[in-house]
Amino acid sequence: MVRVKAFAPASVANVACGFDVFGFALEQPGDVVEILLNDTGEITIKEITGDQGLLPRHVDENTCSVAMRQFLKSLNLSTGVEISLHKQLPLGSGMGSSAASAVAALVAINHAVQNPLTRKQLLPFAVEAERIACGTAHADNVAPSLLGGFVLIRDKATLDIISIPVPEELHAVVVHPHIEIRTSDARQAMKKMISIDDAIKQWGNAAALIAGMMKSDYELIGRSLEDVVAEPVRSIFIPGYQQVKQAALQAGALGCSISGSGPSLFALCKNQEVAKHTAHSMTEAFNRIGLTSDQFISTINHEGAKILND
Ligand code: HSE
Repeated sequence: MVRVKAFAPASVANVACGFDVFGFALEQPGDVVEILLNDTGEITIKEITGDQGLLPRHVDENTCSVAMRQFLKSLNLSTGVEISLHKQLPLGSGMGSSAASAVAALVAINHAVQNPLTRKQLLPFAVEAERIACGTAHADNVAPSLLGGFVLIRDKATLDIISIPVPEELHAVVVHPHIEIRTSDARQAMKKMISIDDAIKQWGNAAALIAGMMKSDYELIGRSLEDVVAEPVRSIFIPGYQQVKQAALQAGALGCSISGSGPSLFALCKNQEVAKHTAHSMTEAFNRIGLTSDQFISTINHEGAKILND
């Protein structure tokens, strides 16, 4: 009997100036998927825990089973699989929850059938699963969750993914206020057109953020964490957004913006001490407007998803 358990981490997509093209993985939290192969030829979902009954149990609608079915089909494998999903990531939080589930499922099934595909070859299945979850196939959560690190998606169609080195001491803070924003709604809110001035600002910042990461230039990283495309539209849906962002900057964070499609905010900090102070200040700022939240502090996770029971 083949039984495999895999973990896939949360991720921060967009990273301010890189809408749909930047993302990085956190060490924790993450989702765990456990699978058991059988000879029924069917994929079934045995249980989902930690989602308060909110995720779809139907195999056509769950990102784990959808990703896994496409994987098995492409390899012409007819094995049956029983899935247990243990959600540790909050739903609709902007921390790559649906991505982590799909990635953990893919890494588990690939391992269970002796790793016929590389990590990069698993990506298209995870991206397709994102389409089921939020209506658009974007890769800026699945790529970091699967591959680890800070990634740049140069081209979505060909999944041309580039890993960007980051300063070793760089810490991320993610603060998740207890409200939910659906990625599909946040994407609907985006403007279909932006001005040439905004485009120039955004690609200047995007290029500079990558340069800052590669040169370990904290000042440059801080200056580049600016988003004139998504933040002006989406921050309106996050109560206390400006206060929480100001609290992060005053606490010494290099920059602060929306994590993925929100409502979580992320901040980047030059070391753990500043990160702790920043997380505390952001949480306090949410408290002041009556919103409870969870905070996560992490270095950039370079490993990505992993097998838990080898
Ligand atoms: N790039 C995506 C978006 C990430 O912002 O809609 C969703 O987490």
